[in-house]
Amino acid sequence: MKTNTIVVCFTINGEKKELQIPAAISALELIRDVLELKGTKEGCGIGECGACTIVVDGKAVNACLMFAAQLDGCEVMTVEGLSPAEGLHPIQQAFVDRHAVQCGFCTPGILMSTQALLMETPHPDRQQIINAVAGNLCRCTGYQSILGAVEDAAAGGLKGKSRQKTF
Ligand code: FES
Ligand code: FES
Repeated sequence: MKTNTIVVCFTINGEKKELQIPAAISALELIRDVLELKGTKEGCGIGECGACTIVVDGKAVNACLMFAAQLDGCEVMTVEGLSPAEGLHPIQQAFVDRHAVQCGFCTPGILMSTQALLMETPHPDRQQIINAVAGNLCRCTGYQSILGAVEDAAAGGLKGKSRQKTF
């Protein structure tokens, strides 16, 4: 049977792409399998866990719930686009400093939810932070350290001993 294909044009992590792809694949399949950007994770595949969170036109979305075709004309960021060529992005550093990473499976998704939050609301309050990461499940770390890391990132990435413990 012939597979229907479509052409999608979008920007991902600052690079323009024009790709012919199977019409029915998800944005997550496009990112992981076609572009081989493996930082974005597949957990549940049904919009429940947040592991696949990416930023599309400034909003955090679950890539498993989008068709790749819906990315046409969009500006997309994955965790690879967040990370500088060397070292860590301030959000990543805040997660390290707060010990907010264990197995790390949830982490790219939470970083991208945080990035979307801080793009829209540079100085979020605690409740806005909770709302922003409410769709991201973590089975390891406990949420207090994650919330603290997002607070630190919003405050400008307080480092090491200078940070205030909130847990
Ligand atoms: S893999 Fe997309 S929400 Fe779980
Ligand atoms: S660090 Fe393991 S799922 Fe969050």
